[in-house]
Amino acid sequence: MMHLAFLVLLCLPVCSAYPLSGAAKQEDSNRDLAQQYLENYYNLKTDVKQFRRKESNLIVKKIQQMQKFLGLAATGKLDSDTLEVMRKPRCGVPDVGHFHTFPGIPKWRKTHLTYRIMNYTSDLPGDAVDSAIEKAVIVWEEVTPLTFSRLYEGEADIMISFAVKEHGDFYSFDGSGHSLAHAYPPGPGLYGDIHFDDDEHWTEDASGTNLFFVAAHELGHSLGLFHSANTEALMYPLYNSFTELTRFHLSQDDVNGIQSLYGPPPASTEEPLVPTKSVPSGSRTPAKCDPALSFDAISTLRGEYLFFKDRYFWRRSHWNSEPEFHLISTFWPSLPSYLDAAYEVNSRDTVFIFKGNEFWAIRGNEVQAGYPRGIHTLGFPPTIRKIDAAVSDKEKKKTYFFVEDKYWRFDENSQSMEQGFPRLIADDFPGVEPKVDAVLQAFGFFYFFSGSSQFEFDPNARMVTRILKSYSWLHC
Ligand SMILES: *[C@@H]1O[C@H](CO)[C@@H](O)[C@H](O)[C@H]1NC(C)=O
Ligand SMILES: [Zn+2]
Ligand SMILES: [Zn+2]
Repeated sequence: MMHLAFLVLLCLPVCSAYPLSGAAKQEDSNRDLAQQYLENYYNLKTDVKQFRRKESNLIVKKIQQMQKFLGLAATGKLDSDTLEVMRKPRCGVPDVGHFHTFPGIPKWRKTHLTYRIMNYTSDLPGDAVDSAIEKAVIVWEEVTPLTFSRLYEGEADIMISFAVKEHGDFYSFDGSGHSLAHAYPPGPGLYGDIHFDDDEHWTEDASGTNLFFVAAHELGHSLGLFHSANTEALMYPLYNSFTELTRFHLSQDDVNGIQSLYGPPPASTEEPLVPTKSVPSGSRTPAKCDPALSFDAISTLRGEYLFFKDRYFWRRSHWNSEPEFHLISTFWPSLPSYLDAAYEVNSRDTVFIFKGNEFWAIRGNEVQAGYPRGIHTLGFPPTIRKIDAAVSDKEKKKTYFFVEDKYWRFDENSQSMEQGFPRLIADDFPGVEPKVDAVLQAFGFFYFFSGSSQFEFDPNARMVTRILKSYSWLHC
C-alpha cells in the first residue's frame, strides 16, 4: 500500500455547484477544482495556500503536464478548455503514478486469470453486468495469450465490485460524476481488483455511463496498462462519450501496450481443417434474439440446457427463464470453440463434446483426463471426419449421431456402435431436414435444429409435431 500514499486522501465534493455570485468566488472554485484534480491525478503535493499564491512554478508545470497528457494546449493556465476537461467524468486512476516503477508489479506471471463479480449495481439487471464484464474481458483476451475464467466464490485474481464513497481502500469515490471507477495493477490481494463507483448511473448503452466501456478500460489497468495520452486509446483517462458501441475496437496504441507486456495471441487454432457448419464470424458476439440464430451444439447438463454458439454458450435452467451467456473458455478452459456436437449421458453424469475428429468428456466444469479421444474409437468408419449433431436417449440408453443425411446409433450399455447403421435420417425421422446442427431431447420429444429452424419430433408417433424458430428456447 505504501506506494499509493502519494494520493491525497481528501474527498472534496469537486462536482458541487459552482457559485455564481461573483467572479472571485468562481475563480476560487476553479482553483479548488484544479487543485483537487492535480492532486488526485497528477501527484501534486501542495497545500491550499501555496496554490492560491498566484500560480507557482510547480503548479504551472503540473497544469502543463496535465494539458500535454490530455491533448490540450500547454498554456499552464486554468483556461476554459482546461477547466472543462477537469470537469469531465474520468477514470479514478492517476495519469502519473509510481505503479510502473514498483518492482515486480507490472504484469501477471501467468496467462490464465480468474475474475469474480462480488456484487452488482442496482442500475442494471445482473446478467447485463455479467455480459458487460465478459465482453470487456474478451477485448483483452482477443489480443493477448491471456485467458480468463469466472469464479463464483473464493479469491479471484480480479475481484470486481460496486461501491460508493469510502469503501475500504484509500481511494474514496466522489458521488455522481468525476471519478467513475478505478483498478489496481497486477498482484496479489487488492491488486488487480476493480471498483466501480455506484453513484454513477451505469447503463448498457450510452445514455448513462456505459459499463462495458469503463470495465474494458479498468481491466487494462488490472492487466498492467497505465493511462495513455493518445486520445484514440481505450486507456485515455477521460470517459469519452461514444455512441457507436457496436463498432468498439481497441486502438493500435492499446494493442501495442498490452502486447509489450504479454505478447500477441498464439497463432489461431480456430481455423478448422475440415469445413464446419459454423464459419467463424470474426469477433462478433452472437445475439440471442437474432431470428437467424443457429446453434453449433446443444446438450443438457445436470438438468440445465446448454446452447453452444461460436466461442460462447447460453445456459438455461428450469427455474431461471433468463439464460446466462458465457464464454466456453470461462467454464472449460481447455475446450475448443465452434463445437460440432454435444450430448449428456445422465447415468455417467458426463457430457461429451465433439469437434472435428476428436471428443472430450466433461463432468460439471471439469474436463476429464484422457481426452480428447478420436471419434473413430466410438466405431465410426475412417471416412467420417466430423459429426454434425448428437443426442442421447435417456430412457433407452441409446446415443444418436447425425452426419449429413445419415445417422448412427450407439448403445450406451454395451458401449458399442450398433449393427445396421448408418441409416437415412429421412427414413426414421420423417419431416426432419437433414443436415442437423444440434439435437435436444426434452419433454418426450426430440428437437432437431437446422439453421434457424427447429423441428419438434414425437418419437412415438414418428412425426414432426411443430416447427419452431431455433431461438425459441432463449426467451426472446
Ligand atoms: C460490494 O462489495 C464491496 C467490497 O466488498 C463493498 O465495499 C461494497 O459496499 C459492496 N457494495 C454493495 C452495493 O453491496
Ligand atoms: Zn484508468
Ligand atoms: Zn476502491
